[in-house]
Amino acid sequence: MNVLEKINEAVSFLEGKQVPKVGVGIILGTGLGNLLEHVEIINEISYSDIPHFPVSTVEFHKGKLIHAKHNGKEMLIMNGRFHYYEGYSMEEVVFPVRVMRKLGVTKLLISNAAGAVNLDFSKGNLMVIDDHINLQSGNPLRGENFEEIGPRFPDMSQPYSRNLQEKIHQIAVREGVSDLVKTGVYVAVDGPNLETRAEYRYLGRIGADAVGMSTVPEVIAANHAGMEVAAVSVLTDECDPDNLAAVDIADIIAVAGKAEKVLSKLFLGLIEEL
Ligand code: HPA
Repeated sequence: MNVLEKINEAVSFLEGKQVPKVGVGIILGTGLGNLLEHVEIINEISYSDIPHFPVSTVEFHKGKLIHAKHNGKEMLIMNGRFHYYEGYSMEEVVFPVRVMRKLGVTKLLISNAAGAVNLDFSKGNLMVIDDHINLQSGNPLRGENFEEIGPRFPDMSQPYSRNLQEKIHQIAVREGVSDLVKTGVYVAVDGPNLETRAEYRYLGRIGADAVGMSTVPEVIAANHAGMEVAAVSVLTDECDPDNLAAVDIADIIAVAGKAEKVLSKLFLGLIEEL
């Protein structure tokens, strides 16, 4: 079965579960589920029930597709994403993005946890992603291209919507959190190990402001399918090669937990304006 047939089966299943055509999709990153506390949940479906959805293996991922509403605006939320480091193929990692597109999503908001490579940024800051560098070893568009999904050679000159970035910064000003909200370049690596000091130094030199293990495959698939993308990194640790503390995953999750309240404000503010 090819990817188009798999998408169609997943979409038919979700339509059978009364999941409607919704224009806005959200992918919530690791430990960033706070937004769910502020929206009205209409329906939730476990990934394990959806045909061809990979099943989320990382324990803190709940693995649900959620149809929700906020101030009259409806959205589809992926609570839990699929990481390449978990062993999924790139095609599996981006499958939910393609299903969302077929369900009508044209605007995709993505969050992730990332390390701050730019030493002007602090842990607990949020970084609106303006551009990326893909250092992952796979590409979701490799292999046969289906023109029904998108072109063989998609443009990447502006993968993150300027318009959505500006709106996020305006909301940050309005909410009084603009001192916490930065802009920068996200570099995606395979993981799952964190970086060595030499790797952080290298990432800084090639132009990274933040580094993480997700998001870029989804952004590539979303651009391929003609979607408008906004993505925000929650910066959970400071990657100073000359002063590198051993990373404590519990600390990363705790920092993410605090900063995600700001993230929820930005995303909910943006959804109101879409
Ligand atoms: N490197 C890669 N991924 C990450 C980091 C990091 O320092 N922090 C959070 N996710």
